[in-house]
Amino acid sequence: MSKQAYLVAEDGAIGQELVPAQAEVHDIVPAKARPIPRISIQAFCEDAKTAEVLQAARADRRLAKSHVSVHMGGAPAAVAHYLESPTPNLIIVETTLPRNQMLAELDRLAECCDAGTKVVVIGHMNDVVLYRELLKRGVSEYLIAPVAPMQLIESLSGLYNNPDTDPVGNVMAFIGAKGGVGSSTVCHNAAWAMSEILKADVVVADLDLAFGTTGLDFNQDPVQGIAEALQSPERLDEVLLDRLLTKCSERLSIFAAPVVLDRDYDISADACDIVLDIVRQNVPFVAVDLPHTWTPWVKRVLLHADEIIVTAMPDLANLRNAKNLIDLLKQHRTNDGPPRLVMNMVKTPKRPEIPVKEFAAALDLEPVQVIEFDSETFGLAANNGQMVEEYSGKAKAVQQFRDLALALAHRKELKDDKKKASLVPLGPLLEKLKFKR
Ligand SMILES: Nc1ncnc2c1ncn2[C@@H]1O[C@H](COP(=O)(O)OP(=O)(O)O)[C@@H](O)[C@H]1O
Ligand SMILES: [Mg+2]
Repeated sequence: MSKQAYLVAEDGAIGQELVPAQAEVHDIVPAKARPIPRISIQAFCEDAKTAEVLQAARADRRLAKSHVSVHMGGAPAAVAHYLESPTPNLIIVETTLPRNQMLAELDRLAECCDAGTKVVVIGHMNDVVLYRELLKRGVSEYLIAPVAPMQLIESLSGLYNNPDTDPVGNVMAFIGAKGGVGSSTVCHNAAWAMSEILKADVVVADLDLAFGTTGLDFNQDPVQGIAEALQSPERLDEVLLDRLLTKCSERLSIFAAPVVLDRDYDISADACDIVLDIVRQNVPFVAVDLPHTWTPWVKRVLLHADEIIVTAMPDLANLRNAKNLIDLLKQHRTNDGPPRLVMNMVKTPKRPEIPVKEFAAALDLEPVQVIEFDSETFGLAANNGQMVEEYSGKAKAVQQFRDLALALAHRKELKDDKKKASLVPLGPLLEKLKFKR
């Protein structure tokens, strides 16, 4: 049973009530719920409201791969159904029965369950004795109605994503509201900062196959990794992935685009899905650098990503495109936070622009970062094949990319960083001492 479901009372509190952790139910904490694998789930509800919640969960991106069907009739309907048919990977039953009757019904259900089927019970009773009896009977989870869609998704995700055996990484998709607005620059710098400050492995996957700049930006002459993977996704495994990645620093690798024009790139949405799934099983953070195009696979990557970063410049075309994009994403991702908006190249000299405040108001979305135009720093960093921070630690954008990286990783600040900060004045001194010796 997951912590999201209950704050469990002190042990030995038999007969005492369990306290539902209401506060957590409605919070959107994307890092917690991971996609649920390709399993079949059948639900038998008693209350129409619970059925609605299941329908809402079913439409969520994290359940996009599973096959979910929702029926009414509760435990008796489930028993009647499974007397005839094989059981799915997971059965969700809602029951409003009192304790003993509920247990008797579930015993009947257990008799017709095939081995390997998991059962999640949604009940209306808040009772520790019942909970223990259910666990004894092998029930995987007991949730108390009313259940919120995200709470349900999180507990299902908890059943199928064991962090010890099945590491699943975060996919962050970066797209520009227009071409040339700096989406790739933001993607690369944020990914690099993440790998440096979190000391976590990050892969930048360049899906701009014909014109991607990842190789140039990181000053690498990479193997033509990602096109090969997309061409035959079924061949991709840990070993092949390792060969196709180009290492840029201790923690950052790139899955580079071939950037040649003498071949056609027909990317299928399914191939994209499979490749990103395999990368995320092997790496905690995957930054996907999307080209500014609109195709079924771009849409799929966006809809399934854990985080979406839309980069825009403050002009009218950017505003219109960002609005369309953000509206569509909000509409399809009702259980996720909105995409993150990065305003870039703000205050470009001599260029009329829409004030950031008005831009944000029109989108009903506050930017996570507002990065100013700085042609010298960005231009020279790009020409040198360096990240902005490598080129100039003093540039204003450095801290902005660091903050963006922390926000994407759901870390506000790092205690380590604070400790390090207090050590900084000693740094040069220690260096001098070393030289003296
Ligand atoms: N804040 C900025 N100030 C100045 N130049 C920038 C800034 N951000 C990005 N650039 C430059 O703009 C150009 C386009 O950036 P790029 O990341 O390739 O855009 P996109 O991926 O959106 O097409 C690059 O030359 C990059 O160095
Ligand atoms: Mg780009």
